[in-house]
Amino acid sequence: MQPAQSKTTAMFTAFMAWVDRRFPATETYEYHLSKYYAPKNFNFWYFFGVLATVVLVLQLVTGIWLTMSYVPSGADAFASVEYTMRDVEFGWLLRYLHTTGASAFFVVVYLHMFRGLIYGSYREPRELIWLIGMAIFVAMMAEGFFGYLLPWGNMSYWAAQVIVSLFGAIPVIGPDLMEWIRGDFLISEITLNRFFALHVVALPLVLVMLVFVHIVALHHVGSNNPDGVDIKKNKDENGIPKDGIPFHPYYTIGHDLPAIVMFLIVFCAVVFYVPEMGGYFIEKPNFEEANPLKTPDHIAPVWYYTPYYAMLRAATFPLLGIDAKFWGFVIMAGAIVLPAVLPWLDRSPVKSIRYKGIASKVMLAIFVVSFFVLGYLGTIPPSPVATAAAQICTVLYFAYFVLMPWYTRVEKTKPVPERVTMR
Ligand code: HEM
Repeated sequence: MQPAQSKTTAMFTAFMAWVDRRFPATETYEYHLSKYYAPKNFNFWYFFGVLATVVLVLQLVTGIWLTMSYVPSGADAFASVEYTMRDVEFGWLLRYLHTTGASAFFVVVYLHMFRGLIYGSYREPRELIWLIGMAIFVAMMAEGFFGYLLPWGNMSYWAAQVIVSLFGAIPVIGPDLMEWIRGDFLISEITLNRFFALHVVALPLVLVMLVFVHIVALHHVGSNNPDGVDIKKNKDENGIPKDGIPFHPYYTIGHDLPAIVMFLIVFCAVVFYVPEMGGYFIEKPNFEEANPLKTPDHIAPVWYYTPYYAMLRAATFPLLGIDAKFWGFVIMAGAIVLPAVLPWLDRSPVKSIRYKGIASKVMLAIFVVSFFVLGYLGTIPPSPVATAAAQICTVLYFAYFVLMPWYTRVEKTKPVPERVTMR
């Protein structure tokens, strides 16, 4: 037994040597895994990058298989999805994995972004990682939006109608721009075809490329950690950070793998038992085919867009002679892209919330609460009370960012330890 094994090992070594002379396989493996020294104090919040990667792969794979039985035409799209659900072997599973995957993607990415907020991961030298992350976030939102039209259900149709018509509120160019996006005078098969192309080809490519450069940038500067301490400042005689451990096997096997298993258990429970999530993952009007003559009683986007949708609806009065709808659009777009400038708004001498002052903690708490309240308000029909609440929460959401240069500079911070702490 023993000689056969060593022969296999020898063959493998020889094969890798052959590959390495032509492609930096071992070098890449060492640089990104076995010799990538990650801070040893990663905690719960460091699960979500890898979980986002898992969900991305899941979406790509299930998406490819769904495309095999999907027909992107106005006459057949809805029926082809029903066909996938009823007649294609395990088609229902593919579809539920994909619809649940879309929501799971936003859950893990929102948590991943929140980690960035609490530990100041966007701060120097990780500004580019953060900016690439923001580009990923915008691309994800577009990907979800284009995908939502494809089942050609009545909510798909009207949600697309509402969002595309926002562009019509832009002064001067609006109406032409709206027509250009739709490719028609109303949402039609032409719109469906282009959304299909963008959803299955263009944006997945963009997302995969962005995630690739996101990781390359991260491994170039190294990971932050819950203390916000730079582990590269404390190296041993071999130049290895004293507070770092090789990413593989310690984090891959000891940290990320159990998290992936736990995540998949919860994820599968949703897929098998509550795939529609009471209308939050697949909305009720989407069980009816798109009908340009029948508006659903209450149009609302999927839950992961609702905080922004509530901000859009919070603008209720015209300004400078321009329609409220336009200002709603500006507020919504501003709310989505504003986190991109965080690296330049945060003036605190410390990175992590552990050592920041009370003002940062209070502002972060207010920000999170307003985001959740906005998320809820975006799901319910508008009313005077709901609109007033949305206006207050919109102001609080923006206050977190706009006031940051001030409160992070004036508050009293705690001293940061020399080395990372294990708590
Ligand atoms: C498809 C979506 C995404 C994937 C697959 C992804 C993947 C990853 C992975 C694997 C890591 C390293 C592990 C970790 O720190 O958790 C990471 C780190 C990071 N990501 Fe993402 N990410 C995504 C979206 C985002 C977004 C939307 C943002 C923010 C706008 C972001 C900001 C960051 C930052 C700042 C780090 C460094 C964190 C640190 O070192 O503390 N990422 N990402």
